[in-house]
Parts: sequence; C-alpha cells; structure tokens
Amino acid sequence: MKLLVTGGAGFIGSAFVRLVLDRHADDTVTTLDALTYAGNPANLLDLEGESRHTFVHGDIADVALVDALVAEHDAVVNFAAETHVDRSLLDPTAFLRSNVEGVYVLLDAVRRHDRRLLQVSTDEVYGDIPAGRFSVETDPVMPRSPYAAAKAGGELFCRSFVISHGTDVVVTRGCNTIGPRQYPEKLVPLFLTNALRDHPLPVYGDGLQVRDWLHAEDHAVAIDLALRKGRAGETYNIGAGNERPNIEVVKTLLARLGKSEELIVHVPDRPGHDRRYALDWTKIREELGWAPARDFTATLTDTIDWYVTHPEWWAAIRDGSTAFAEYYEQQYGWRLAAAGRGEA
Ligand code: TYD
Repeated sequence: MKLLVTGGAGFIGSAFVRLVLDRHADDTVTTLDALTYAGNPANLLDLEGESRHTFVHGDIADVALVDALVAEHDAVVNFAAETHVDRSLLDPTAFLRSNVEGVYVLLDAVRRHDRRLLQVSTDEVYGDIPAGRFSVETDPVMPRSPYAAAKAGGELFCRSFVISHGTDVVVTRGCNTIGPRQYPEKLVPLFLTNALRDHPLPVYGDGLQVRDWLHAEDHAVAIDLALRKGRAGETYNIGAGNERPNIEVVKTLLARLGKSEELIVHVPDRPGHDRRYALDWTKIREELGWAPARDFTATLTDTIDWYVTHPEWWAAIRDGSTAFAEYYEQQYGWRLAAAGRGEA
C-alpha cells in the first residue's frame, strides 16, 4: 500500500510511520507535515536513507498540494492537528485551520480520488464523563474546549461526507497518549523535563482529574488495524484501561526519577477543565482484535526512560527556541506567581 501520512513528523504520527515501515515490507509512506512548532524533523531522523519513506513539507489545507498527493496514494492517515487544550484557550485560530479546514481539504481530495481517509481524533470530543460511565462510539459528541470543538468539527465533516457522498472514512478516538518524542507541553513530557531540571510541576487545581494513559506505539498499532480492517464510515474508540488521577501519575513519575514531591505546586485550574475522560473500547477489541501490549507501568516507564536518555531531543526545544519560553511564561508565569512560586 502507498500511504500518505499527514502530520507524520509529530508525536503519534512519527510512531505510526515507523510502525508501518517496520511491519509492512511492501508499503511505502509519504509524510506530509507543515513543521509547525510541534512537528519536528528530528522525529524522523532515524528514517533518513529509508528508500520507502519520502518527506514533503506542506500544509493539509493546501488544496493543490493535497490533491496531487492524494492522487498518487492508496490511502491517507491524518495525524496533522493542533492538539494542545491550553493553547486553544489562548488562541483557537490555528485549530480551526488544521482541525477543521485541513480535514475538509483532505476529505474533498479522498472523495474525488476515491481513496480511504483514516481520521485520527480524540476522546475529548465526548466532553466530561462522570465517574462510572464509559463513552461508546454512538454517544453524542459534547466538546467543551476550543480544541475538542475543532476536533469534533473535523469529525462532523467526515460524517457528512460519509453520508452525503459515500466517502470512505474511518475515525479513531484515542485516549491520552504518552511515549517518546511528545512535545514537552503536555502533562507527562512537561513534568518529566521540569523534574529533570528541578523546576516546579504546575498541577492544575486539585490534580484529581482522571485520564486514561496509552503508549504511542500501542495507539499506532490500533490506528494501523483500523486503517486496514476498519469498516467504512465507522468510528473506533482506542482506550487503554489505565485510568489514573493526574496527581498519582505525577507522584509515580517523581518516584521513578528519585525526585522530591516538593516540586509539585498546585496552580490555578484550566478554565472549563474536563474532570474525566473514559472510553469503552469493546468495539475495536472485538471487531479488530486490538488490545494494548503495555500496562500502565510499562507505558510510563518507557516514556520516562526515553526522556532521561534523550536530553538532546527535548533540550533543543526547551532551550533552542524563544517560542517555547514565550508559551511557558504566558501559560505558567502568573499561575506559579499566584501559587507563591514566581521564581520559576
Ligand atoms: P494534557 O497533557 O494537556 O492533556 P489533555 O488536557 O488533553 O487531557 O493534560 C493532561 C491532564 O493534566 C489534564 O487534566 C490537565 C493536567 N495538566 C496539569 O495539571 N498541569 C499542566 O501543566 C498540564 C499541561 C496539564
């Protein structure tokens, strides 16, 4: 199969590109990536010289480029997205462009060329899930952050193309994902890299919000199965069964690094913060035979070990660009000051 992987220089996208090239000897992959702040050529460095992989620098909202690329490939897997809730609260403009308009451009091209689109989405489209409940694919989408609203918007365009035009689209909704090469703004890579530098760990509110944690390689395996065996027009939840309150994840991380819990600082909460996401992933398990290969300990340990052994990867981001420093100051400066920890 000739695959077009959009957003393939990002975190889960690059794990997926690597997985496809490892598992499917007859496949070729073209990565299309705009290399915005979170897309990173270093994520694909080990594929240099791989004749089955080609890199194209460009935007999924570029109609002519996308049309030409889709025509040359058998299927498209779309990882390209703005993904960080906190950034969407500061300015959602880029989220509309990538997560809605970009998806529309991809959809229109796969419709015209009669290809399959695998749209990578998120459990956040379901909104806040009360304790004891687990979202199933037929539940309504009730997004609560600008990020989740934009992802839901992209999904709704997918649904409309399936129904109106019979376009071949499969949607996956994944839970919180960690592992190597995640941009250090999300909870785990931010706190890991802060802890390694003895900087404070800014826990929002009481830290009792619950997320389900999945390894990027397990997530990539699920997407690969959904791409090849998923039924057209269907949506598949990808959960891990690793529900943990944030504070427990943070304490486990500190213990593993041998760092003091005194680094934890409770800071003012994220506005509209969803307390819990939880997926029922019976459908992908029963229909496609998927289950994650790693438990929570293996998932977190592998992530921690990678950041400990690859300081050059994350230091290049944290020290190498003013963009990270500016974002960090805007997001955490006043929060840490409000918590009496303004020095960091
Ligand atoms: P995040 O990694 O941003 O993923 P999402 O919001 O998409 O689930 O956040 C995971 C959880 O960690 C979420 O409940 C918010 C919380 N969090 C903090 O407490 N402090 C932080 O600095 C960040 C980035 C997240």
